[in-house]
Amino acid sequence: MEMKVQKGNLAQVKTDILVVGAFSEVKVPEGAVLAVDQAVGGRLANLLKEDGFKAKLASTFLTHTHGEIPAKRILVVGLGEKKEADLETARQAAAVAVNKAKECGAKTIVSELFVCGDAKTAESAQAMAEGALLANYAFVKYKKPTHKSPTLFTIVAHDGRDARSAEKGLVMGEMAARATVFARDLVNTPAHDMHPETLVHAAKAIAKGNASIRVRVFERESLKRMGAGGLLGVSQGSDYPPYLVHLIYKPKKPSKKSIALVGKAVTFDSGGLSLKPAEYMTTMKCDMAGASAVLGAFSVIGELAPSVEVHGIFGAVENMPSGSAIRPGDVLTAMNKKTMEVLNTDAEGRLTLADTLSYAVRQKPSFIVDLATLTGACVVALGEEITGVMANDEKLAAHVLAAAVLAGEKMWRLPLEKNYKKVIKSQVADLQNVGNKWGGALTAGLFLEEFVNKTPWAHLDIAGPAFAERDIDAYTHKGATGHGVRTLLQLLKSS
Ligand code: BES
Ligand code: ZN
Ligand code: ZN
Repeated sequence: MEMKVQKGNLAQVKTDILVVGAFSEVKVPEGAVLAVDQAVGGRLANLLKEDGFKAKLASTFLTHTHGEIPAKRILVVGLGEKKEADLETARQAAAVAVNKAKECGAKTIVSELFVCGDAKTAESAQAMAEGALLANYAFVKYKKPTHKSPTLFTIVAHDGRDARSAEKGLVMGEMAARATVFARDLVNTPAHDMHPETLVHAAKAIAKGNASIRVRVFERESLKRMGAGGLLGVSQGSDYPPYLVHLIYKPKKPSKKSIALVGKAVTFDSGGLSLKPAEYMTTMKCDMAGASAVLGAFSVIGELAPSVEVHGIFGAVENMPSGSAIRPGDVLTAMNKKTMEVLNTDAEGRLTLADTLSYAVRQKPSFIVDLATLTGACVVALGEEITGVMANDEKLAAHVLAAAVLAGEKMWRLPLEKNYKKVIKSQVADLQNVGNKWGGALTAGLFLEEFVNKTPWAHLDIAGPAFAERDIDAYTHKGATGHGVRTLLQLLKSS
């Protein structure tokens, strides 16, 4: 679906669906609804009244125009309460328009620009592009699309100045959506077509198309030399070898500041010998969503052109049970020489991140952000839609949380409670890979902290939001969500 901006009068544009937004507490038409209502001789206001349309967020009212104006249909989208409206309202409203267009087979959409709260024109257009394009996403590798997609979404701006700002926003929104879709496609791909090596290819393909990106890949022999016992251990039950992948983006003007983005990349998490029950295993192709978010961000980093150096790092493995798999009780030595007793082979993410974080620290970044589908406990704590953020640095935590708000991704801080460190102390090694049955997201975070030294670091446990087991909202349908990508882009932009 193409997106563009034009200036002019909504009521005079030819399109399959004309979209206008209404706030819930507004009783008489205003703004775009009023303009369109006047063009159809007051019929729209009457219909809305008759229908008892309340304009609750994401509610819709659709009517034919019977040729009264050039548009074939008018869609009124509820924006909810004006005082609560923000960029996310614009994302949802644009997404609702696309979903409706799909439903009724409309090819072309023309919409007013939803400027909510104190949002600027460019940001609003960006949010609309994100919502519209992500709502239009379908994973079509193995199944024909069930609905025909609209082909054109036009945002109408009041004047030339607004149109120019909106166009800038559209470029950013289109980029953020493309990066998110890139991550969604990787995560949705079933594990038989998504081996550790497939992620290596994805990284190399990104670097190939861009002179500002280099990639280094470490294979099993190199990992042995580096002492990456976590990656080697977790992958040893799989028929597919492990890889450590390091992408490097260098800005045109050299920068002292550098950022490391680290992702968990378990292409399938069966649990290993601590095998998962069948119903918990069905979505475990999503266990590389952290690395996919990093790859998604790197897929557009050349265009975003941040002014800082960026390292994208992930250790790709598959966690399988077999005669050669790691056993409960085994002790692995991570790249930083710390020893880890494996009491549960299903707590494999932290074993792989022990090495990838150790490697990231060696790049001497200004800060590290990791994204990992790390614990079911985080989903118990925060539900399916919210990421848990743990950080050893207040400023970085605030930076990440602010980026997430702007990006429209829900995140909430969790503590790295020092007193809980005792539950991951091992009898036979420096650490054990599980705590007791409580606070599992926090003890996993504390485990990771052992591998970042004093580098400012934020850990994003995305186990809940990475993969939607049901439709979440207008632009987050069942399946991979690409959660994290937009926050990363926002973070890079503002660093
Ligand atoms: N990949 C899972 C965590 C997960 C759960 C991701 C649900 C997405 C949705 C992780 O490797 C895992 O299995 N963690 C265990 C840890 C436990 C054994 C300490 C868990 O959360 O049950
Ligand atoms: Zn696991
Ligand atoms: Zn896992």
